[in-house]
Amino acid sequence: MIVEGSVRPPGDKSITHRGFFLAAMLSSRAEIRNPLSSLDVRATARILRQVGVEISPVRGGRSVTVRGSSDRWRAPAGSLHCGNSGTAARLMLGALAGQRFEARITGDGSLRRRPMRRVTIPLREMGVRVAEERGDGLPLRVRGGVLHGVTYRSPVASAQVKSAILLAGLGGGVPVTVVEPARSRDHTERMLQFLGFPVATAGAAVSLDGSMRTGRLGPFTLEVPGDLSSAAFLVGAALLSDGGELRIENVGINPTRAGFLDVVARMGGTIEQHDRRVVCGEPVADLVVRPSTLSATEVRSDEIPGLIDEVPVLAVLATRASGETVFRSVGELRVKESDRLGLIASNLRSIGVVAEVHGEDLSVVGTDQPLRGSVETARDHRLVMAFAVLGSQSGAAIELSETASADVSYPGFFRDLHQIGGGSWTVK
Ligand code: S3P
Repeated sequence: MIVEGSVRPPGDKSITHRGFFLAAMLSSRAEIRNPLSSLDVRATARILRQVGVEISPVRGGRSVTVRGSSDRWRAPAGSLHCGNSGTAARLMLGALAGQRFEARITGDGSLRRRPMRRVTIPLREMGVRVAEERGDGLPLRVRGGVLHGVTYRSPVASAQVKSAILLAGLGGGVPVTVVEPARSRDHTERMLQFLGFPVATAGAAVSLDGSMRTGRLGPFTLEVPGDLSSAAFLVGAALLSDGGELRIENVGINPTRAGFLDVVARMGGTIEQHDRRVVCGEPVADLVVRPSTLSATEVRSDEIPGLIDEVPVLAVLATRASGETVFRSVGELRVKESDRLGLIASNLRSIGVVAEVHGEDLSVVGTDQPLRGSVETARDHRLVMAFAVLGSQSGAAIELSETASADVSYPGFFRDLHQIGGGSWTVK
């Protein structure tokens, strides 16, 4: 298979969510350019509209206008349904912390099973009342109000937890400090700094002082870079191809998020970065990727927060690398949109790869045998895209249980994969 041409991946999911939240809390009028328009992002727009924020339609990557200010939010008429989106649910919990009304948050079957106490524990410490309907998950009823500041040591490195606390501090006008075991992606901090808020960082600690007020910011424009987590699948297809050269334009390469690029380089993958620049506080580059001979590596536990969403595609690359690749301490993958850890291993085995989970570690042994068989994606967008990449390799015959879940983060994925040359997979 030859993979070639030029692609622009869709806008970054994490940055689009944050743009909507900060604009909804702070702004007279904000224009979000190149937003992602996927199911997850639409969930955030929908729940923000329910509390009174004006957001123009989120469609086809067109700019979105947001008019909002925390002091004008109102009680929603029904439950806030976050669909499949953990970021929508967890950031909304934080954004609601300073509001005096009650709101009920829920989501689809996958999201309802995901842990929420990691966010509600610190929010309760700040003074938010939380009623659980079904233990550590959704639905939840929250009622915020007058908050006190917090210094919270999070047991998990999670940008959603950190961002929820930062938004709570912002909405409640109280100082917050979050200390993580390892630094998670810092898009919220960068966006706040870009908008002129004083955010202090020291190692894995982040503080926001409570003196700033929401609703005082003038109009602003935010340009969202392309999503490295989406681009990673295209990178994977190009690395595994038999020839060609793929250019992927306008990709966010934030160092707290770009562990994928470091690991691929260590495996022998050829990815060049061109025209490195900074756009609205976020580093961006164009990537040029060529077919590469890969070798196995050990992905250390301290690297995991910087590539957590790229483990599925890295595991797929590991199947074509010589030797055994080990991912250390990836237990967090059990509580993503699916049990990604178990499903990566079981699906790799069902297409003929030796893959094991030992405690919190995942190991994948590379092979040059053709990979054939069926894959159960559990409607997890990153699993479907990762296995589609493997299926588009010459000689592979992979049957995916569905393809629709790609719409959660990358609606044009199958079109783009087809356009660059990787077009052979089947759907059950
Ligand atoms: C995200 C943070 C990560 C990531 C998710 C998006 C974010 O989750 O897996 O896809 O936008 O903050 P955690 O915060 O749970 O690690």
